[in-house]
Amino acid sequence: MDDYIIEPGTPGIEDYRRLRVAAGLSPKTRDQASAGLPNTWYGVTIVHGGGVVGMGRIIGDGGTAFQIVDIALEPAHQGRGLGKAIMAALMEHLNTNAPEGAYVSLIADGDARHLYAKYGFEPVMPASIGMALQVTRPA
Ligand SMILES: CC(C)(COP(=O)(O)OP(=O)(O)OC[C@H]1O[C@@H](n2cnc3c(N)ncnc32)[C@H](O)[C@@H]1OP(=O)(O)O)[C@@H](O)C(=O)NCCC(=O)NCCS
Repeated sequence: MDDYIIEPGTPGIEDYRRLRVAAGLSPKTRDQASAGLPNTWYGVTIVHGGGVVGMGRIIGDGGTAFQIVDIALEPAHQGRGLGKAIMAALMEHLNTNAPEGAYVSLIADGDARHLYAKYGFEPVMPASIGMALQVTRPA
């Protein structure tokens, strides 16, 4: 862990796009990334050997609602505690800067729910269910 540096900040567009795909998340276009990343409320990157190997972001309105997104590590750097380091940094920022009562949500893919549970996240079911769609344009 000594040779990993966790840095506050939003990942660059190409690092963001590369890391998402490397971690098995869906690809995002350059246009999507360049429109979205500047609106990050808080983010961190993991730097190793001069390159960015991991990231995590919080998006939201700054007052009432936030979402944790884009938690991703290159496969070679998974399973070493870096996911916990990312989450700890994001939670520290939330606990210091978000108003009391702010609602923080996320969609946990597969077994990543075990990581989020360590930071207090609980399933919303059965009272609620997470729902999502992807914007599509008519052909
Ligand atoms: C999910 C991810 C960020 C976790 O980071 P990581 O560095 O591999 O995980 P860590 O080494 O910090 O450990 C995660 C903790 O959660 C627990 N956990 C259990 N199953 C897990 C799983 N399948 N994935 C991640 N964490 C898991 C571990 O037990 C560990 O806690 P412990 O060391 O106290 O036992 C990383 O594996 C990743 O990038 N995965 C691919 C992309 C992805 O799925 N992102 C999440 C989208 S919601």
